[in-house]
Amino acid sequence: MIPGKFITLEGIDGAGKSTQLTWIVELLQRAGLQTVVTREPGGTALGEQLRALLLDKTMTMHAETETLLMFAARREHLDKVIIPALSQGQWVISDRFADASFAYQGGGRGLNVDKLSILEHWVQGELQPDLTLYFDVPVEVGMQRVSQIKNVDRFEKEQADFFQRVRAAYLDRARQFPDRIKIIDSSQSLAEVKAAVEQTLKDVLNHG
Ligand SMILES: Nc1ncnc2c1ncn2[C@@H]1O[C@H](COP(=O)(O)OP(=O)(O)O)[C@@H](O)[C@H]1O
Ligand SMILES: [Mg+2]
Repeated sequence: MIPGKFITLEGIDGAGKSTQLTWIVELLQRAGLQTVVTREPGGTALGEQLRALLLDKTMTMHAETETLLMFAARREHLDKVIIPALSQGQWVISDRFADASFAYQGGGRGLNVDKLSILEHWVQGELQPDLTLYFDVPVEVGMQRVSQIKNVDRFEKEQADFFQRVRAAYLDRARQFPDRIKIIDSSQSLAEVKAAVEQTLKDVLNHG
């Protein structure tokens, strides 16, 4: 049996993560793999409650409080969902993971990267995703796509300069970890993005 792998999807709001998630699961299941789909913040009972607090646009909190809650939810997620599934040989696909903290809390909110790295090692040890698909779109494209949504959350309501910093931090992270993080040009049509995702996954299934 192929041991389980951990795939994470990243990108600014409106990049197309949730849209491509369905397609990724379909491709993996077609390859005969068992999949577990999850998301961050969230993925556990406690994590979903923390998510509700973190996304509540009427809530205000210090950037470090936000970061600590994100990592608290992640600790629970690893313990209750991600690690058990991987140990059973399942493939875990998570809509966001720790790179989002480096992008949103690091880039977006300006939190010190050394503090984020300490939390990352504390919560995850050496565990990293086997593959991260980073869906890259210009900020205007992402914001345009999200503008259709009526009830924007605490992050989606941020302005363009916030998302510029988030995108720049994601791209930095992708340059830092080129073997793990694959950049998908998500400004293309849905069909083109799907094809790019399929190609990237095939490479991983065949070589990794
Ligand atoms: N490649 C694409 N071209 C055009 N529209 C897209 C594309 N990918 C996603 N969308 C649309 O953009 C919106 C946001 O996509 P979504 O998958 O929810 O993004 P995310 O989960 O990254 O925030 C949705 O309405 C979706 O249908
Ligand atoms: Mg989404």
